[in-house]
Amino acid sequence: MKNINMLALILFFTYASILISSSNAGVQDFCIADLSAPVSPSGYPCKNQSTVTVNDFIFTEFFRTRKFSSTINVSATDAFVGQFPGLNGLGVSAVYSELLPGGTVLGGIISSENRVYYKTLRAGDLMVFPQGLLQFHLNAGRTRAKVIATFNSENPRAQLVPRALFSNDLLAEIVAKVSFLEVAVVERLKALLGGTN
Ligand SMILES: *[C@@H]1O[C@H](CO)[C@@H](O)[C@H](O)[C@H]1NC(C)=O
Ligand SMILES: *[C@@H]1O[C@H](CO)[C@@H](O)[C@H](O)[C@H]1NC(C)=O
Repeated sequence: MKNINMLALILFFTYASILISSSNAGVQDFCIADLSAPVSPSGYPCKNQSTVTVNDFIFTEFFRTRKFSSTINVSATDAFVGQFPGLNGLGVSAVYSELLPGGTVLGGIISSENRVYYKTLRAGDLMVFPQGLLQFHLNAGRTRAKVIATFNSENPRAQLVPRALFSNDLLAEIVAKVSFLEVAVVERLKALLGGTN
């Protein structure tokens, strides 16, 4: 089942490339998200400016380690617009992540021509993951690894390939056909990842 753990680390970022309405920039200095209003393709509407405080521009405890996911041993502190309303309309966000157990991180990209680019990263290295490409990161060391990632969207989205395939109610026979796996293997993965059918 080693391959499955490896597969579980493959992430697919779509970055929901939100089209930020540039009109906000022209008429006001900022547009703090009003999270009580529905989000639209151009982001959240602005909070009433008279209620904006300095705290809207600050995200606290970015480096606090959150709960580790039991399936992939990764923690993530998202500073996206939903957690950090000051990012609204700015097209940027960040995440702080820890990976157990390891000191170095192996980062990789799989291009649309299925070429693989991967390397073990050292402290201080920055790696860019182009928008929309399959990517993976895993801890290749012996101690915990800490990662800071930034995004060119204030509300980025990620789709884990194993979850996309096995955590839903799509019939096992169909998943088996599209994934070239045996039905029994698909059923085992569905059980492991919370899928049905
Ligand atoms: C913003 O809040 C102020 C003070 O409560 C209020 O007077 C003003 O009408 C509000 N503006 C909008 C656009 O709701
Ligand atoms: C997660 O970490 C624990 C403790 O280090 C380890 O026993 C377990 O095998 C890891 N799980 C995965 C999916 O790597």
